[in-house]
Formats: sequence, C-alpha cells, structure tokens
Amino acid sequence: MRDDIARLKREKKAIILAHNYQRPEVQAVADVVGDSLELSVQAKNTDAEIIVFCGVDFMAETAKILNPARKVLLPVKDATCPLAHMLTPEDLLAARREHPEAAIVVYINSTAACKAVADVVCTSANAVRVVEALNKREVIFGPDANLAAYVQARVPNTRLIPVPPHGYCYVHTGFTLQDVDEARQKGTTIICHPECNIDVQQASDYIASTGGMVQKALLHRSWSVLTEKEMAHRLRTLFPDRTFIAKDGAICHEMKKTRLSDVYRSLLHEEYEVILPEDLMHRARGAIERMIAIGRG
Ligand code: 13P
Ligand code: SF4
Repeated sequence: MRDDIARLKREKKAIILAHNYQRPEVQAVADVVGDSLELSVQAKNTDAEIIVFCGVDFMAETAKILNPARKVLLPVKDATCPLAHMLTPEDLLAARREHPEAAIVVYINSTAACKAVADVVCTSANAVRVVEALNKREVIFGPDANLAAYVQARVPNTRLIPVPPHGYCYVHTGFTLQDVDEARQKGTTIICHPECNIDVQQASDYIASTGGMVQKALLHRSWSVLTEKEMAHRLRTLFPDRTFIAKDGAICHEMKKTRLSDVYRSLLHEEYEVILPEDLMHRARGAIERMIAIGRG
C-alpha cells in the first residue's frame, strides 16, 4: 500500500501532511509530519495540487482557508477534535459584548466559524507571542482553558478571559500529578503540552507544543512525554539515541481514526474534500494569516 500511495501521490501531484499524533504507518508515508503551526505553514506554501491532511477536521479546514486554490482532502470524514466543539461564535460574541475593548484570540483547535469572528488565531507553539503582540489589557481566549492559564502566567499585563470557562482536551487533562511522580521516579526529564492541567504544567520541567518537544529533544537523554502517545514515536524516529516514554492510555481516538487504507482511498477517490463557504473562509483567513505572520513563539 505504501508503494500505491507513493504512485498516486506522484500521479496526482499530491502532498501528504500528517500531525505528530497520527499512527506510525501514516507518519511514514507523509511528506511532512509536524505540529499544527508547522503543518499550516506547509499547507499555505505548497504548490501541490492536492493536500491530503492526516489529522482532524480543523487542521484540514485551516489548510483549505490558507490555500483555497488547492483540493484539500481529509481521509476520514468525521475525524474531529472534541475540544474545538466546546466553543461557538455566539459564545465569543457574547463575551465581546461584556468586554467590548477585548481582543478575541482563538486556539487553532476551533471551528472555522469561531476563527471567522476572531482577531487572531494561535497554536500552542505561539500563543504567548500572539497575545503579547496584541498588547491589549483584555483578551478573550478560547476554547482551551489550560492553554489560557499557561499564557496568563506569562503575560502579566493582559487579563485573559477564558471562553468557555473550562474548555479542555480529554487526552491532556488525563495526566495527573501521579504521572509526574512516576516520571520522576524513572529519572526522566518531564515535558508536557500546555493543554495539560496547571498542576501538571507546574510540576513538569518543560511545557511545549508538539513541535516544541522536537526542538527541545536534544537537551536531555531521557524524557517522559506528557501528551498523546504517538508523539513519543515521532521523537524516537527523529532521535533514535534518546529515550522517550509515553503513557499508554494517552490516546486521541480522533487522530487514530486515520489508517493507511484511508490515506490510500482518500488519494484514489479524492475524498473527502474540504468545502467551506467562500465568505466564511474570507472572514477566517485574516485571523489565521495574522498568526502565520507572527510565527513561532
Ligand atoms: P500541537 O499544535 O502542539 O501539535 O497540538 C495540537 C493538538 O491537537 C494538541 O492536542
Ligand atoms: Fe483535540 Fe485533544 Fe485530540 Fe488534540 S489531542 S486533537 S486537542 S482531542
């Protein structure tokens, strides 16, 4: 199947982008594996005719908004992020009515409709930098409340208003202080994602996006990686002489929906094409482009 995928990719001038949480065999056929920000930049800049996005729907939608002339395919139609569905544009507009001076920052893990009412989008790689760049007294921030708290601790001159008050990722909030203790007992350096609960963030040695974890990997020999378990696979592939320990139960079931057979079928039948209304894409594009211009944190 790998050969067939490679052939179809050549024939159709396609590129395969895969998030760090994708299954190992899907990562292996991808042209680029990365975090949300890296994949967005790749999607924006590619001149491939087809982008096959192995991830969840908000990632493929962001790719389409950034590069609307390309055909963007999501191999599994219903691969979606539960966190993204914890926020609606109405929630953001209601918060803005209460705080008319506040800017609206939405995490990339959100629907296109939420991005359309935001001033700027961020990922976990650049959330602090995005909020700093706004230089506002108040910022409405959603949907992840742990990422909001992470940013709040680093931007003392801005008040963040999390919307909804307790938006969360079920994978990352599954980590506890007991996991941190066990990682300590193993003598590993602990790195967690900013979607983890604040007590876990504070007890960890580093906090980083999945791309940030790649950047930091050479700093230590042996790591406990407090994020979705496939991240450890990604790190072991890149740094085979280092140790990366994951938690077996830390699984994003939505990311795992995409199998190699789905990638093949997606390329063969050119499904499932991401189609969004033009006006929605137009309204969301500015907020995403602003984030890309700010770059990594
Ligand atoms: P990254 O942008 O850090 O890869 O995170 C994406 C995500 O969905 C985390 O759960
Ligand atoms: Fe969404 Fe969490 Fe899965 Fe990331 S790990 S895609 S935030 S459910």
